[in-house]
Amino acid sequence: MVLHYYGHSCFSVNINGKHILFDPFISPNELAAGKVDAGAVPADYILLSHGHADHIADCVAIAQRTGAKIICAWEIYEWLGKQGISHVHPMNTGGSWDFGDFRVKCVLAQHSSGLPDGSYGGNPMGFLLFSDAGNFYYSGDTALTLDMQLIPRWAKLNFAVLPIGDNFTMDVHDALAAADMVQVQTVVGVHYDTFGFIKIDHAAAEKTFSSAGKKLVLVPVGGSTSV
Ligand code: NI
Ligand code: MN
Repeated sequence: MVLHYYGHSCFSVNINGKHILFDPFISPNELAAGKVDAGAVPADYILLSHGHADHIADCVAIAQRTGAKIICAWEIYEWLGKQGISHVHPMNTGGSWDFGDFRVKCVLAQHSSGLPDGSYGGNPMGFLLFSDAGNFYYSGDTALTLDMQLIPRWAKLNFAVLPIGDNFTMDVHDALAAADMVQVQTVVGVHYDTFGFIKIDHAAAEKTFSSAGKKLVLVPVGGSTSV
């Protein structure tokens, strides 16, 4: 699978020729300026882990432009409906659904989820994504949690996408422990460097993983990697 990184926690994976976009936050991200054009990012599906602005800022505009189907918590589905977005599939933690090109299972994330206007965003979620091309786990914003130990019951993973920036989420050490729990060798790091609170030392982060026999991939904003 090819993973395109658009900065912060925004990335996309191509499966069966479909662009599956996660947590679109591009136009407010200074690190993406001049590297990613939110008005040109392709999407057939948009998955939203939770309602915070740094995960959904460009969601409505990209959904309007592309007609992509949005997959998110029930409460975010209701919020999007009030903004005239009707091509939304509501889910909640524990549930799964087969979208044809891939299957999604929503799993727990230990975080919070308010929407930018103060509306209640429901529970934050992580996603397991299953496809013929492989399986992966995107945890969304989360603390390290023992619930991650359940994930190998459901999925044999090719890779995981985990936050590593600390302050709002796991740091790189907790992300390494999460990689152990979900039994994965390769982690794509997200949710780092975007704001002052979450700036990290890239070389030290990569060494934390390599010292434990695992691989941390830090993709440049606007770049891509094979996973
Ligand atoms: Ni958040
Ligand atoms: Mn966040």
